[in-house]
Amino acid sequence: MTYPERAVPAARLGYHVCAAALGILFLTACVSPSPRAEPAPEPLGSAPAAEAFRGSERVEALLAKMTTAEKLGQLNQMAGGRQIALNSRIDEGELARVRAGGVGSYLHVAGAEFLETLQRVAVEESRLGIPLLFAMDVVHGYRTMFPVPLGIAATFDTADAELSARIAAIEATSAGLHWTFAPMIDVARDARWGRIVEGAGEEAFFVAAMARAQIRGYQGTDLSAPDTILATAKHFGAYGAGTGGRDYDSADISERTLREVYLPPFRAAADAGAGSFMVAFNDIGGVPTTANRALVRDLLRGKWGYHGLVVSDWNSVLELINHGVAETREEAGALALLASVDMEMTSGIYANDLQAAVEASPALQAALDASVRRVLMTKERLGPFDTPFAYHDPAREAAVMLTPERRAAARHVAERSIVLLRNDKGLLPLAEAPGRVALIGALADDARSMIGSWKAQGRPEDVITLAATLKVRLGDDLVYEPGGPARWEADPAAIARAVRAAEAADIVILVTGEDYDLSGEARSRSDIGLPAPQKELARAILATGKPVITVVMTGRPLDLDPLDAEDASILLAWFPGTQAGPAVANVLFGAVSPAGRLPATFPRRTGQAPFFMGHYPTGRPADPDLSKDSARYMDIPITPAYAFGHGLSYGQFEYGSLGVSQSELAPGGVVTLSAAITNVSGVDADEVAQLYVRDPVAQVARPVQELRGFVRVNIPAGETRRVFFRLKPEHFAYLAPSGHYEADAGRIDFRIGPASDDIRLTGHITLTSPVVSAMPGAAIAVEAGTEEE
Ligand code: NOJ
Repeated sequence: MTYPERAVPAARLGYHVCAAALGILFLTACVSPSPRAEPAPEPLGSAPAAEAFRGSERVEALLAKMTTAEKLGQLNQMAGGRQIALNSRIDEGELARVRAGGVGSYLHVAGAEFLETLQRVAVEESRLGIPLLFAMDVVHGYRTMFPVPLGIAATFDTADAELSARIAAIEATSAGLHWTFAPMIDVARDARWGRIVEGAGEEAFFVAAMARAQIRGYQGTDLSAPDTILATAKHFGAYGAGTGGRDYDSADISERTLREVYLPPFRAAADAGAGSFMVAFNDIGGVPTTANRALVRDLLRGKWGYHGLVVSDWNSVLELINHGVAETREEAGALALLASVDMEMTSGIYANDLQAAVEASPALQAALDASVRRVLMTKERLGPFDTPFAYHDPAREAAVMLTPERRAAARHVAERSIVLLRNDKGLLPLAEAPGRVALIGALADDARSMIGSWKAQGRPEDVITLAATLKVRLGDDLVYEPGGPARWEADPAAIARAVRAAEAADIVILVTGEDYDLSGEARSRSDIGLPAPQKELARAILATGKPVITVVMTGRPLDLDPLDAEDASILLAWFPGTQAGPAVANVLFGAVSPAGRLPATFPRRTGQAPFFMGHYPTGRPADPDLSKDSARYMDIPITPAYAFGHGLSYGQFEYGSLGVSQSELAPGGVVTLSAAITNVSGVDADEVAQLYVRDPVAQVARPVQELRGFVRVNIPAGETRRVFFRLKPEHFAYLAPSGHYEADAGRIDFRIGPASDDIRLTGHITLTSPVVSAMPGAAIAVEAGTEEE
């Protein structure tokens, strides 16, 4: 068999699909204004970029010495264990494989001492002494657990995202790890998708901002420092766009949606220097990303100039057979390698099934050399060639985990992630001595759930639950009743006990939602409502007529029926991490005013999903008046339960004194928009100012609103702060019919407020001339902050 002549079905398909899409764009371009100036468009099916990337002297010298088997070995990533039994798969057979140069990296391994021993085998007993890379999913903490990523995103503060990644890196590297499979930067617009918990929600611009911050936190400024870890931008392509919110499912999306929504965070990550990318399991329009040459080789490598390491997802090379684009393991491996997927996670195809094909195919040989070069250069950047044991210091490992400062940081971020969804009767914050309190709900004391999915080495026994915190704080004034299990069957006797406790109390704190295992990988749900027993318990507690404060734990936007009543007080706590109890209690009792915001829309009902802010306008926009035929469901209001950016405060803020540095924006110019925010309450509190934009008339319809800035600022009672956002014409660029990213001349509307549905200041600027941009606006960082009033 020869490559690529014969075995290119996926790549060919990719080429044709994308070329066809572009064909439509170019056709449109014939009747549109002609493309203006450089840079060239980014055709997904363009010719491959020249493999210009060269390695260091050491890497090139090694490459020259390596046999084909050794090269393929460097691309082989094996699982060293499962989450439950770390390192359990590293037996004598594995060590022999390392000695033979048959493996380049292990995942799901950890421990300074264990990994030093393993590394010693690689560097001292293999022919070329090439060090191994050790990897793990360190997603929101290693031992000290921070809120789940969607919760971290809800802080609406990139500093919190960076801090949590930094601490995760310090702890993980002390346990011998070089590489984390984070951040997940898949835009997630469908609340049914279980992995929405792992990302930063629905807005491309926002996800891109959080991505940059996390990459900074993980990688620092010097990847070779022993406390920095290689980040992974995952899952490249459009993993978040799976049909129906089902995990692993096809993304059948337009090229515009791909380029303007799903790719911008990856563009931002590549530009921020993310050391690795992971390709998605799924396909886009029939082309599995693991074999998508147009996307990985031509766009990511060719057009974006990305020379970092690209890893497959778990067995995703083998799964090319299931996708129906390869018949054999060899064919699957060849497709992935030719797409420039460097390292293969777990299926062992590169190492075991590709040697003959490579030796017979110059194209595969070239692809192999390029991939090996990138893997070795990653090792070079991380440092283990020079200091192979720098990451393996057991004393450091013992010293850095879960220190008081790290716990304090986890509590700080958790407090800032909490979103006050509603507080209709002002039940929150609780008084210092609130009387007799009934704490109801199994989740209130579920330490495992508090740390959410992907717990790395986080341990339930490290967690302080809300029940534990409140017991200490309230003593005999607290009665705790779980009210039955968090999911599966309701327990009528337990519900009855909970009702009795509620009836005897002055106030009820009901902790409800999903447990940790209802979101995450392969955890998509067809119903985003509360699990049945939680619903039954909630109904019974609400029926007591007692004042009820609800604390919701979740990793996804939920349909909050029956909690979402007129007089409700609801705190959204996500899965808050190791310091869950103290963090939630501090918000409940008002030591901290909540200021978290929703990074994803909360639909009212599952049937509204996918429901997101940045949709296109229609010819018949949704109208509350049912007698009009409009783009809506007839059985539910047109609004979501809670909009993107929503989140209340114990304080109260007034927005005024809009500043617009210039009403006209020319190419190369910058406009500064600003607003004075006054805390008119008696409570010191944070506010999150958000900037939304819209291009009202363009060559193609533009979303009804898009985020282009956010600033979280602490404003003491009675004081005023001025927030600013600086925008360039490129921030409005979109994929125009020409195939370029363009911003049109004309009006741009902007809106500033504390939420996407709570706009306090509006205005517009005018772009004096059209502009062509290298990337869409969502991929470009906006400078924002506070300035002197
Ligand atoms: C599969 C997941 O999709 C990916 O995100 C993760 O990094 C790998 N498994 C490794 O655990």
